[in-house]
Amino acid sequence: MTNPLLKSMKIGFIGAGNMTQTMIKGILESKLLRPEQIIVSNRTPGKLIKVTELFHVQTRDHNEQVVEECDVVILAMKPQDLPAAVEVFANHFEKHQTIVSLAAGINLKDLERLIPIGRLVRVMPNTPAVIGRGVIGYLTQDNDDKEIVADLMEDLFSNLGVMLQVDTEDQFDALMVSCSSGTGFVFEMMMYWQDWIQERGFSDEDSKKMTIETFLGASLLAAQSAGIDIEELQARVTSKKGVTAAGLNSMRELEIERALRISFEKASMRSKELSLSGKR
Ligand SMILES: NC(=O)c1ccc[n+]([C@@H]2O[C@H](COP(=O)([O-])OP(=O)(O)OC[C@H]3O[C@@H](n4cnc5c(N)ncnc54)[C@H](OP(=O)(O)O)[C@@H]3O)[C@@H](O)[C@H]2O)c1
Repeated sequence: MTNPLLKSMKIGFIGAGNMTQTMIKGILESKLLRPEQIIVSNRTPGKLIKVTELFHVQTRDHNEQVVEECDVVILAMKPQDLPAAVEVFANHFEKHQTIVSLAAGINLKDLERLIPIGRLVRVMPNTPAVIGRGVIGYLTQDNDDKEIVADLMEDLFSNLGVMLQVDTEDQFDALMVSCSSGTGFVFEMMMYWQDWIQERGFSDEDSKKMTIETFLGASLLAAQSAGIDIEELQARVTSKKGVTAAGLNSMRELEIERALRISFEKASMRSKELSLSGKR
């Protein structure tokens, strides 16, 4: 059941960029909150005009005002901008406030150092959240408020896609690589698909359509085949010594799985490197 307290809550966004706009759209479409319950600030005024026009939310000139007025404050600036931005208002938070960080590479321990008071949570949406088909991972602090924060995250963001609570920073990292960077990896494969089709005389439009529908069709079929493993679905389109089998054998000989695993590991290593260097 949705938290009845949401009706009176104020949700703040510091940073009015792409992810903020995606999240506001999702929250408003879910009808959980009214536009006047959402307050946004930004470094420069341009995007504030846009969010007011698009969503009729409130805006403030200073980040501190958002911190003072809101129950939930979403830190939605780029990771490299976060520490300096937060320094100004870090001591203004109170114990009951929930502070959501969207920043990759800044773990909960780093956040606790930056913001000593308040309930902290890391949230990682991926770009399909913009059409309500995202994967939204979150990691809360391990304390007595864990469930309250988890319920709040589910209420606020489930309109953006599938919510997944993770237990460790390593899992958070894995979710970021596989689902957020993973969206980029899937696009890379889609580009190879489209190129191959196009080289066989199909138009730009048709080759794109064929690619998208193949990925979409396979994904939806897997999503709608409850109790059937992906391996079994693959077996159903593969007859022994047939056309699909020939292609799959080649993929296995070429060790596509190994190539993908290495790419995932490299992305994960890069995330840890950026986090350690503080550069992000
Ligand atoms: N986009 C995604 O798909 C995605 C997915 C997962 C996570 N995230 C995370 O979400 C966060 C936001 O990403 P984004 O793509 O929305 O970035 P973005 O479009 O670049 O937006 C960032 C916004 O933060 C503002 N900002 C910077 N410093 C500020 C400060 N001190 N005070 C107030 N506002 C400040 C910027 O203002 P200006 O207009 O002045 O530049 C800009 O509007 C990042 O941490 C990112 O890693 C994004």
